[in-house]
Amino acid sequence: MVSVTIKDLTKQYGTCVAVKDLNLEIKDGEFFVFLGPSGCGKSTTLLCIAGLVKPDKGEVWLGNELVTSPERDIYMTPQKREVAMVFQDYALYPHMTVFKNVAFPLEVRGEDKGEIMERVKATAELLGISQLLDRKPGQLSGGQRQRVALARAMVRKPKVFLLDEPLANLDAKLRVKTRIELKKLQQKLGVTTIYVTHDQVEAMTMADRIMVQKDGVTEQIGTPDELYNHPSNLFVAGFIGSPEMNFIDCTLIEEGNRLWLDAKEFKIPVPAKIVPELKSYIGEDLTMGIRPEDLYERESVKGITQKNALRMTADIIEPVGPYLLLHLSKGRCPLVARVKETTARIGQEVDIEMDLSKIHMFDKKTTEAII
Ligand SMILES: Nc1ncnc2c1ncn2[C@@H]1O[C@H](COP(=O)(O)OP(=O)(O)O)[C@@H](O)[C@H]1O
Ligand SMILES: [Mg+2]
Repeated sequence: MVSVTIKDLTKQYGTCVAVKDLNLEIKDGEFFVFLGPSGCGKSTTLLCIAGLVKPDKGEVWLGNELVTSPERDIYMTPQKREVAMVFQDYALYPHMTVFKNVAFPLEVRGEDKGEIMERVKATAELLGISQLLDRKPGQLSGGQRQRVALARAMVRKPKVFLLDEPLANLDAKLRVKTRIELKKLQQKLGVTTIYVTHDQVEAMTMADRIMVQKDGVTEQIGTPDELYNHPSNLFVAGFIGSPEMNFIDCTLIEEGNRLWLDAKEFKIPVPAKIVPELKSYIGEDLTMGIRPEDLYERESVKGITQKNALRMTADIIEPVGPYLLLHLSKGRCPLVARVKETTARIGQEVDIEMDLSKIHMFDKKTTEAII
């Protein structure tokens, strides 16, 4: 098991920059997730680490070993890297039994028969597929096939696991179940794991740390908690969290000796705590962000110290299991609030409180977070 270090990695396909100047340090034993919309460069980054794609420049280190460096003409083959990769389409050999499929990488390496038997059995046990060893892939469910693919990757005892959307082909319920199993397994094995997904819920629930990518560029690297509570720009703020953060365009103004966020439809007093950070933006256009769970119906507000009532119209009330989503509007400003219960009626007005200690502020021009 090793750490993975990437320095200034760039990969271009023609004019398309798939990965640009990527710098990253993944710790030994970490569960690290690459998260971003389709086409943002997640798979390309993973393939560069696996040695299946040659970058144009930059370095890949596995532990203390430099395995890729176009500048220094270093390029270790994928086999020698001792990394295991699992893709979305697991590509099991259809004519081989599960046992043969799992044993295959060991047979290729010419391992001893007894050793192979032992390792396959132990790995099958770990993944709960012992009873399937005599079946062929065609006789397995999607979830079982996926576990066989994981077993085949694991049986080699790789230094690093590279998983590219491995759960994407499973139905929703099985995906949640397998997600939890995979996380448990990774904790047990302690193998450094890089997991690619476009699904922010998957990333948030599984990762020790996440890298959010967009158009080949790293937007932010952090723990799930850091990304959720301290997104460094509008993209990350909008990508993480469901339903997504509310964004309100506003101008910072000074009036009656205090600062206000003027959103046209309403004005919000700037909490004293963030005045120092915002002061230099007087007269500028900003974007305020607030998550749906930080909005409350006035009736139910308890223990919020800095609040500000907004009288809004309830457009839609959407029940989602333990919560209700209130789709609200004031003039042309829409907001979504996540509440446990409501007195609101569709088409009628309701008083909404904003927890001002939870607001996020972004520079509208640069989209970077200010606080
Ligand atoms: N072999 C290739 N040839 C040309 N363009 C590619 C190739 N692989 C990926 N790309 C392009 O590089 C960008 C990043 O792709 P990819 O890494 O697969 O994204 P992701 O895995 O995040 O969906 C995309 O614009 C994609 O079209
Ligand atoms: Mg991909």
